Amino acid sequence: MKEKVLTGETPTGKLHLAHFVGSLRKRLEMQESGNYEIYILSADMQGLTDNAKDPSKISENVFEVIKDNLSIGIDPSKVTFFVQSGVPELTELTTYYMNLVTLSRLKRNPTIKEEIKQRGFEESLPVGFLTYPISQAADITAFDATLVPVGEDQIPILEQVCEIVDTFNKIYGETLIRPKYIVPENNSARRLPGTDGKAKMSKSANNCIYLSDDKETVKKKIMSMYTDPFHIRVEDPGDTKNNPVFIYLDAFCTDRKKYEELKIHYEKGGLGDKIVKEYLFEVIEEILTPIRERRAYYDEHPEIVEKIVKEGTEKARKKANEVLKRVRKQIGVEYFK
Ligand code: TRP
Repeated sequence: MKEKVLTGETPTGKLHLAHFVGSLRKRLEMQESGNYEIYILSADMQGLTDNAKDPSKISENVFEVIKDNLSIGIDPSKVTFFVQSGVPELTELTTYYMNLVTLSRLKRNPTIKEEIKQRGFEESLPVGFLTYPISQAADITAFDATLVPVGEDQIPILEQVCEIVDTFNKIYGETLIRPKYIVPENNSARRLPGTDGKAKMSKSANNCIYLSDDKETVKKKIMSMYTDPFHIRVEDPGDTKNNPVFIYLDAFCTDRKKYEELKIHYEKGGLGDKIVKEYLFEVIEEILTPIRERRAYYDEHPEIVEKIVKEGTEKARKKANEVLKRVRKQIGVEYFK
């Protein structure tokens, strides 16, 4: 039997290069290996936990994000796409799991803590937002997933998911499968900075290169990227470690020899930023050109995208229902035989 994989994103905006190297690329690799049964979720209900007053921000992005996945080459005949709200079984599982987690443990989750701070939720935290590690446990266990490829920020959540699984199994007997998470091995890919050199690519910081950006936009963004501010004249030695242009090359460039050569040259001095940026543009365009072509096809055929998600959601629902039955049986929520 194939190992099961579950991953996905909260559809709050279109996907960018940090998503690509942080998790999308791994999905593609897993798909190509043929060794996995893969489920990709659009976590719309999770998105609503902090966008209740602005629901269109979520609904408008559900298909956009799925198109991002399709455009990188995820093949709908090999992978199951689904929307969270289309699988109510997940909500029921979440409710059972809620009783296995303490409020203080949730509040201590480093990812949640950070996100609460970012959103200014210290005084006005929506209850649903705090519980999203629990719903994530439902998303994963509902498919008996053993592997969850995610970005680095998701590690504390996945750790908490494992705790929930352990607690459940301890109380009710072996029922749920404990997942493993996978993050990229390459450090640069694990935490790709913004084009401005800030630690994180994020829409609000306006420092992203999107998978759906056109060629001109990408060129502009790359040519105006932050580099080493002390690399003033071409002959000056430059820093490559905190230089996003080199971090991007490390994350994207497959010609490792060329990458190492450029790095040595830049550090020694005598290599101008413009030349390195032009090369980075070439590397990125090689990746983005086929992505844009596939995207254009799906943009022209929204009915195909809709069909993919509708059928995938039906299939996901069947699978989640099997697990839910098992869970109900173990807890004893089974009155009518
Ligand atoms: N929290 C994830 C994100 O923001 C999305 C997500 C929801 C997820 N449920 C999941 C990821 C389960 C992996 C497994 O991108």
